[in-house]
Amino acid sequence: MGWSCVVARAVAIFLMLSRASALTSDIFAAGKSDKEILDNLLKNSRYDKRLLPPVDGVLTVNVSVLLLSLASPDESSLKYEVEFLLQQQWYDPRLRYSNQSHYDFLNAIHHHEDIWLPDTYFIMHGDFKDPIIPMHFALRIYRNGTINYLMRRHLILSCQGRLNIFPFDDPLCSFALESISYEQSAITYVWKNDEDTLRKSPSLTTLNAYLIQNQTIPCPIKASWRGNYSCLKVDLIFTRDRAFYFTTVFIPGIILVTSSFITFWLEWNAVPARSMIGVTTMLNFFTTSNGFRSTLPVVSNLTAMNVWDGVCMCFIYASLLEFVCVNYVGRKRPLHNVVYRPGENPVTQRLPAVLSRIGIILASPLPGDKKRESTGGADLVSCTACTGPGACTHTANNGGVSEPCFVQVRKKEPPHPIRVAKTIDVIARITFPTAYAVFLIFFFIHYKAFS
Ligand SMILES: *[C@@H]1O[C@H](CO)[C@@H](O)[C@H](O)[C@H]1NC(C)=O
Ligand SMILES: *[C@@H]1O[C@H](CO)[C@@H](O)[C@H](O)[C@H]1NC(C)=O
Ligand SMILES: *[C@@H]1O[C@H](CO)[C@@H](O)[C@H](O)[C@H]1NC(C)=O
Ligand SMILES: *[C@@H]1O[C@H](CO)[C@@H](O)[C@H](O)[C@H]1NC(C)=O
Ligand SMILES: *[C@@H]1O[C@H](CO)[C@@H](O)[C@H](O)[C@H]1NC(C)=O
Repeated sequence: MGWSCVVARAVAIFLMLSRASALTSDIFAAGKSDKEILDNLLKNSRYDKRLLPPVDGVLTVNVSVLLLSLASPDESSLKYEVEFLLQQQWYDPRLRYSNQSHYDFLNAIHHHEDIWLPDTYFIMHGDFKDPIIPMHFALRIYRNGTINYLMRRHLILSCQGRLNIFPFDDPLCSFALESISYEQSAITYVWKNDEDTLRKSPSLTTLNAYLIQNQTIPCPIKASWRGNYSCLKVDLIFTRDRAFYFTTVFIPGIILVTSSFITFWLEWNAVPARSMIGVTTMLNFFTTSNGFRSTLPVVSNLTAMNVWDGVCMCFIYASLLEFVCVNYVGRKRPLHNVVYRPGENPVTQRLPAVLSRIGIILASPLPGDKKRESTGGADLVSCTACTGPGACTHTANNGGVSEPCFVQVRKKEPPHPIRVAKTIDVIARITFPTAYAVFLIFFFIHYKAFS
């Protein structure tokens, strides 16, 4: 009895010993299923998910980002939706398993709760489109103990644009990753392969979002909220669709303002036509700019848009006022009973004078210009002011200015009001479009509209 008892004990001890040795060497042997390997790896006695992976020095988490889609709700919004796959990879020596196993990696997706995972969180302005705890993820354990943790994230970022040069600004969206509880001395995040650019999925979809530049960097000190934590930053620089703003804002604006200039080419006393053009263009411009503004973020510093609207309004309003002046001046009773002779076409005769008055030298001088040289340039100006019947002998027929004009110019008479009115129109025909063109060039160059 005693003998057999001893034998049985010895056998039991031997079996236990062999079991123990098998535990350390054979549990991952070739025939084992992935379930058995996972069960053994994550056994409570063997693995404690509360402890940081026991690596020499600092645990390095390699991070990479793969962009899946970019979207913006509308053209002038500063909210951008960014969808991406975030991959984190680290080394946990406790989860190594034998290379005899025929599994290259184990799918540990259902052991999400049982494995130590880095407590990465996002530093950003904005929102999560999906739950903070990711639902779409992959978790793989490689033979050599490398863990690959992939998750899909969908962020709604509030981006920074320079609204003072809106819509020519390039909004910058950025977000950062950081560990919430482990300091730099415990965990460091690095970009995988030291990449400084973002990878994009081959079928990256974009909606109203025009990504022009991207970079992935370690956080500058400012961007990490707490100094001692390792942090990585992604910068996405978007641009706006210039063509959209040209077709909805700038070209309609230019058309309205230049339409209001048509009034200078109409008769000075065409009241219905000229007032209609002035009022219609003004109302239309208000409607267009209000309609566009209602889609913009409600902010105060839309300097470029304010300049655009203000200057265009000024031009339209000024051309309306010009009509009022012209009409008022033209209706005044002449002082000296001078008779206005409609046969004299003020345009063909006065244009050279007006041009020389504002400093433009005509390329082909009129025949009478020889006389101007002899009598002095200022006389021509005076000549154009002579209106008395017979005082000037020039007529509309030849358009030339003959000598008696300059001789009799000296006795000055006040110009006929209608002539003054027409002269104002002629001046406006040149100054308004020129000033507006100068403004357009200045505006688009200053705000770098075409860069
Ligand atoms: C992380 O990346 C570095 C090189 O950037 C590499 O040496 C290391 O093995 C990687 N670690 C893991 C767990 O992939
Ligand atoms: C597997 O591990 C054994 C030692 O345990 C080593 O001799 C062998 O080279 C390894 N095989 C591979 C493919 O890594
Ligand atoms: C572990 O294996 C994976 C996949 O085979 C490989 O990408 C990774 O670089 C390996 N890590 C180390 C530290 O050897
Ligand atoms: C990021 O920029 C680099 C060049 O700077 C480019 O090669 C890469 O495709 C860009 N990534 C995305 C997602 O646009
Ligand atoms: C950061 O770490 C340094 C030493 O490593 C320490 O002196 C400092 O107080 C820490 N700062 C914070 C904000 O924890």
